[in-house]
Amino acid sequence: MSAPQGWWREAVVYEVYVRSFADSDGDGVGDLPGITSRLPYLRDLGVDALWITPFYPSPQHDHGYDVADYCAVDPRFGSLEDLDTLLDTAHGLGLRVIVDLVPNHTSSEHPWFVEALAAPPGSPARSRYLFRTGRGAGAEEPPNNWESVFGGPAWTRVEGTDQWYLHLFDSTQPDLDWRNPEVAQMFEGVLQFWLDRGVDGFRVDVAHGLFKEESLRDQDRPEEPDAGDAPREIVERTLADEPMWDQPEVHEVYRSWRRLVDDYSDEHGTDRMVVAEAWTQTPESMARFVRPDELHQSFNFSWLLADWSAPAFAEVVRGTLAAMAPVDASPTWVLSNHDVVRHPTRYGGGARGLARARAATLVMLALPGSCYLYQGEELGLEEVDVAPEHRQDPSWFRTGEVGRDGCRVPMPWSGQEPPYGFGPPGSTPWIPQPADWGGLTVEAQRADPGSTWSFYQRALAARHRHARGAGPVELIAAPAEWGADVLAFRRGSLGVVLNCGEVPVPLPTGRLLVASGDSDPGVLAPDHAVWLELPQGSSGPSSISL
Ligand code: NOJ
Repeated sequence: MSAPQGWWREAVVYEVYVRSFADSDGDGVGDLPGITSRLPYLRDLGVDALWITPFYPSPQHDHGYDVADYCAVDPRFGSLEDLDTLLDTAHGLGLRVIVDLVPNHTSSEHPWFVEALAAPPGSPARSRYLFRTGRGAGAEEPPNNWESVFGGPAWTRVEGTDQWYLHLFDSTQPDLDWRNPEVAQMFEGVLQFWLDRGVDGFRVDVAHGLFKEESLRDQDRPEEPDAGDAPREIVERTLADEPMWDQPEVHEVYRSWRRLVDDYSDEHGTDRMVVAEAWTQTPESMARFVRPDELHQSFNFSWLLADWSAPAFAEVVRGTLAAMAPVDASPTWVLSNHDVVRHPTRYGGGARGLARARAATLVMLALPGSCYLYQGEELGLEEVDVAPEHRQDPSWFRTGEVGRDGCRVPMPWSGQEPPYGFGPPGSTPWIPQPADWGGLTVEAQRADPGSTWSFYQRALAARHRHARGAGPVELIAAPAEWGADVLAFRRGSLGVVLNCGEVPVPLPTGRLLVASGDSDPGVLAPDHAVWLELPQGSSGPSSISL
C-alpha cells in the first residue's frame, strides 16, 4: 500500500552538509547540535524538509560516505540523543528530516571489512565484499579494467597476496557484494533502526551501484570515442558500457525497501520516503528506480548537467516529465549539491553567473515535483578556489585534480571575518572561508530585500501559493519576437518565462508574481526569469500574449 500523504511529492528539501553547516563546539567541524540551533532559520527560509549528509562513525576519508557503523552517531557530530533532539525540534517546527544511507560500500574500518582482511580467500567474511584474484602471472594486474570514480584503478591489492578488492570510490570504501543475502539483511536492519528513531526518509547514496554485472567483465571503454562522420546528436546518444552501474538486479532491493518503508508508514500512521541518488544515463533508466513499487523519488540531475540554453532546458523538462508520467512518480529537480561546482560558478560566475543562477532557481521552483536545494545556494555562494594545502577530497589525493572542496566551504552566518558565526569566535573551520564573505552572510542578506537570500525566501513563499498543486506543465513555443533563447511554460494561470538570450524580450501580459532580479518595465532582461499570473480566461499554450 502506498503511504498516506506523500508530503515529499512537492517538497522543497534543503541539503545540510553536516561538516559545513554549523559548528556548536568549536572543533571546526559542523555537528548535530549546530544543525538543531539553525532549524528556525530553515523554517524562516521556507523549506519543507532537510536532508542531512552522513553523521555516522567514520574515519572521514570521504567525509562520512565511508561508514564504519551504520547505527550510531560519530562523536565528532554528537550523539544519538542529539539526533533525537534534532528530530523533535525539526518536527516541532513542521520540518521533515531525511538521512543518508550508504549501501554500496562500507568504510575499510567497518568491522566486516576488518574481519574480511583477516580471513582467508574464499571465506564467508570475504564474500560480503568483492575480492578477486588479480590478472597476470603474479596477479600483479587488477582483476578488470574498471576505474574508480575518484581516479585510478577501482581495485586495491591485499598486500602480499594475489587477491584484490573492488572499490568504485576510494580504496577506503570497499564495495559490498549485494549478491550475498547477509548484506541485504544488514541494511533492512539499518532502515528499521532509523525509522524507529523517527526519521522521515532516506537518501540512498550510489543507488545505481549496488549490483555489478556478475562476471565483473572488463568495461568496453574506447580511449578516444571515435565520432567518425556520425552526426553529433547520434554520438551523444550512444550509451556508455557500464557493467558496474544500473544493473537490473538492484530493483528487487528497492522493491523490498519500498514494502518495508510503506508498511512502517501504514503501521505508524506516518509518511516516510526514500529518494535515490542514481546517476543513470537516461531519463527512462531513472524512471525505473521510481516505479510504483520501488523508491518514492530519484534525483534528476539533467538540469544540473544542461547548458545555459532555453532549448536544452525545455528538453530537460519535457524529457523528465515524459519519463515520470508512465510510472506516476513525482519528478525532482536539483541545481547544486556537495558533489558539483556551485551553479552561479557553473553559469560563468560574477554578477552574470549569479543572475543566471537565480533565474534557473526560479524556473525550477515552478516545476511540479520536489526541489532539492544545497546549503549556501540561498546566499548565492560561488565555488571557492581552495588552496592545495587545504584540499581534502579523496579525488584530489588520487588524481591531483581539484575536487569538490570548493562547494563544501563552511556557511557564513554573521560577522565580518571567519568563522562568520559558523563556529564560536576564534575557532578555525575545517576548510578556510574566504576573507571577503562578510557581505554574503545570512545576517547581512536577511537585512537586504535585494539579496539572494531575500529572493529565495520570496520565491519559496510564492511556490507555496502559486506552484504547488498548479496544473500540468504546458511548454510554450516562443513567439518570433522573443527569439530562440526563451523558455516559457504555463501551469494553469501560472506563467513562467526565462530569458537565456542576449537581448531583453517583451514581457507577456500578466501580473508579476516574482522575479529573479530587476528588469526595465515591460521587458525581461537577459539571464532573468519571472512568474506571472496570466489573465483570467486565458487557457492553452498559445494564449500568452505580448
Ligand atoms: C555520492 C556522494 O554524494 C559523494 O559525496 C560520495 O563521495 C559518493 N557518493 C561515494 O559515497
